[in-house]
Formats: sequence, C-alpha cells, structure tokens
Amino acid sequence: MTLISGTTVAEKVLEECRRDIAALAAEGKKPGLAVILVGDDPASRAYVRSKDKKCRDLGLHSVKLELPASTTQEELLAHVETLNRDPAIHGILVQSPPPKHIDEAAIVRAIDPAKDVDGFHPVNVAKLALEDPTGFVPCTPLGCQRLLIEAGISTQGANAVVVGRSMIVGKPMALLLMAKGPGGDATVTIAHSRTRDLAAVTRQADIIIAAIGRPEFLRAEHVKEGAVVIDVGINRVEAPETEKGYKLVGDVAFDEVAAKCSAITPVPGGVGPMTIAMLMANTIKACRLAQA
Ligand code: GUN
Repeated sequence: MTLISGTTVAEKVLEECRRDIAALAAEGKKPGLAVILVGDDPASRAYVRSKDKKCRDLGLHSVKLELPASTTQEELLAHVETLNRDPAIHGILVQSPPPKHIDEAAIVRAIDPAKDVDGFHPVNVAKLALEDPTGFVPCTPLGCQRLLIEAGISTQGANAVVVGRSMIVGKPMALLLMAKGPGGDATVTIAHSRTRDLAAVTRQADIIIAAIGRPEFLRAEHVKEGAVVIDVGINRVEAPETEKGYKLVGDVAFDEVAAKCSAITPVPGGVGPMTIAMLMANTIKACRLAQA
C-alpha cells in the first residue's frame, strides 16, 4: 500500500511557484491574492489564515479581509468591486460557506472571472467543461488530479467514482477526470447522497474520490481490493484527549480502507496542503494572464 503524501507533492508545486514568482519578479511583477472571510467559523478562519501565511512565505502580495458576520450583501459586494479594480490584486477568494444571509452565488458572479482563482464563476465553470486552458479550475479537485499524476496512477480508461456532487469538489473533479490528457481520460461516475446501493457503485471503482463531508463515511465494504482512494474530507471531530479538543479525520475510515487499497491519501497531510498549493499556482497564473 502506497501512502500518497500531499505534503511532499505540495512542496514540489510550491517549488514551481517560487520559480515562477522569481521569473515574474524579474519583470517587476508580483502576484497578489485577496482572501475574504465573513463571520467567525473557526475552521474557515484557520483556512484563511493558512492561505494568507502561505502567500507571505512565498513572497506574494496578500490581502486578508476578516469581516464580521453582520456584513451585508451590499458591503461584501463593495469589497469585491474594489478588489476587482485593484491592479495589485490578481486573485480574489471569498471563503465558503458565508453566513446564511449572504447570497453566495451573487457574490461569486460579481468577482471578475479573470481574478476568480477559486474557479467558481460561471465563466470558469464553462471553461472547465470546454477544456479551455485559460480558465481557472477549483483548487481542491485540481490538487487531487495532480496527486494522482505525481503518484504515477494512470487514470486513462480507469473507472473513477467521485462520491459527492458539490460545485467546489465533486462536479469539477468529474470534469477533470473525464477531460482529455494526463490525469484525465477516465470513465467517470458521480455518486451522491441519493445514490442507490452506493457500495455496489464504489466497489466498481479503480479510483475513488471521497468528497462527502461526513467523517469516516467510506468504509472497507465500499472499496474493492487494490483501489486507489483520494480522501478530500477534512472533518473536525471531538477528541478530549488532545490539546485542541478536536482532531481532523477524513471522509474515509482510514485504517480499514487502507488495508484494502493500493494507494491512499492521509488526513491531515493529503489533499489539504494541495488545495493551498494550487491556490498559489492559480494566483500566479492569474498574474501572468493579466499581463498577456
Ligand atoms: N471552502 C472550502 N473549500 C474552499 C475553497 O476551495 N475555496 C473557497 N473559497 N472556500 C472553500
């Protein structure tokens, strides 16, 4: 069984980012990312802080806006408009999910698609479906695909089952896996909470992408011997014995599934670090395209 280290692959991606940043610096350019958090969800706050920190580590221009939960739709839109016009900002990300009174779809549509490094704007969703390389692909599925490529796992002709149909992971993941080329060319099935006999579907899979959002949901019975499992879940579960009082577990019951797989990603240290690395890569891409 191979443990696919997201930490190691992310470091490789970040090394490529450092090279690209140095090349842009030689032209007097510096990629800039703005991350907006509305409200005080602890997990979201932790993600936003680590994105900001990674930017600073790499020497990117980073703007972090932490707005109160009482922020109105109009106020948030005004922030997005200001950042759309700011030439030092190449990428804009509004951490999801925002508070309930915010119309997230409207916010996403307000972001300049050329700065939508999350790849959530309808223009970028369409570009992914069209296999147009000028678009931005959501960071988490892009990171999962890169993990498969770097681990030497062939997707061509493979049966890939994506469990979860979210706009952030499941749908774009399926589009990436079915696209032509490396990390693509798979036969893709999307399963979700309404799928009948899920285990019968996932047991057909050579590759399973678990993006359900429920701790340790995918069990040994869901997986055929020798399958590859990519665990997208990052769930906080209570763990009174730990200092923080919680621990992170994936959407996969790791021990029992790992015993059957040929390769699997851990949580933490799997998909998580890849998401941030791909965000940095997308921001650099946005900076380059902005000047083209
Ligand atoms: N929430 C969970 N994952 C993501 C992501 O990739 N981007 C944003 N904006 N919010 C998220």
